[in-house]
Amino acid sequence: MSELDALREQVFRVQVDLEHDLEGLSDPEALEAFRVEFLSRKGRLAQLFKVIGTLTPAERSEAGQLLNALKERAAASFSARRGVLDAAALAARTATERADLTLPGPCHRLGHLHLLTQVRQEIESIFLRLGFDVASGPEVETEYYNFEALNIPASHPARDEWDSFYLDDGRLLRAHTSPVQVRVMEKTPPPVRIVCPGRCYRRDSQDATHSPVFHQIELLWVEEGLTLANLKYVIELFVREFFGEGYDMRLSGDFFPFTEPSVQVHMRPRGQTKWLELGGAGMVNPAVLTGVGYDPERVTGFAFGFGLERMAMLRHRIEDIRTFLANDLRFITQF
Ligand code: PHE
Repeated sequence: MSELDALREQVFRVQVDLEHDLEGLSDPEALEAFRVEFLSRKGRLAQLFKVIGTLTPAERSEAGQLLNALKERAAASFSARRGVLDAAALAARTATERADLTLPGPCHRLGHLHLLTQVRQEIESIFLRLGFDVASGPEVETEYYNFEALNIPASHPARDEWDSFYLDDGRLLRAHTSPVQVRVMEKTPPPVRIVCPGRCYRRDSQDATHSPVFHQIELLWVEEGLTLANLKYVIELFVREFFGEGYDMRLSGDFFPFTEPSVQVHMRPRGQTKWLELGGAGMVNPAVLTGVGYDPERVTGFAFGFGLERMAMLRHRIEDIRTFLANDLRFITQF
């Protein structure tokens, strides 16, 4: 028998074995074992291909055709069988596993903005509607902007009121947002209309209404012809927008080196006796205007600085300013 004849016979046998074995395969492991036996690099088909090298050139072409046909058929049968097994496996799974589409999905609790952020944004939007811009300044401030430019020289006893935390290089954590007034005026010719919310620091000991870190919102309006009446009007307008009806407001005399005259602003829910101070306000002191190169004979201005926590406390009946810092979800999620 010639080599070619022998090969023909082997091809036939492999073909028969292969079809027969495939029929009986019922799981993925058996399928893989089949692949290794017949189709892998050292499998039975690969062995047959090696025979080609021993044939005469004339025989090789027929042998090649024979083997390639076998290989294609084997590959087609194999993947057909795999398809059948996969489908059977899927059918078995869907018969036992059922998705209950009526079950509630995984639930992610949505977070929200902190009450202080809400209040800040709300106040900003009230003043944006009134034509003010929102400005900001650094929390680490120089003594010049925190004090001197605001008409509080080094020896002035009023410095005690804004005692803050100092860095080694002489700068300090700003004790109020008023330094931003000066920074803005230095860069902008009048008219100026800004609000500036931000964090402030003081060496106050903590109690229900004081905290060493807190927030203020500063307002500054400088233009020709502004008077204390305009200041009072703006405060009243703001208070009505932010608090709504049901609150009383009171202005009384005060002293700040950077305003003249100066007032303090108190609020209380109507019917209650205790006033809560929102902050200070007044007509910008001509010395401050001169300091930034403005002409106090031509323009006048007014400013206020209110505590953000105080306003949130008043509106939401929060008793203690320390709750803002407690980072307690029972508090935070209420708003
Ligand atoms: N900066 C003052 C304070 O923190 C408040 C204030 C602002 C007063 C603007 C007058 C004008 O106490």
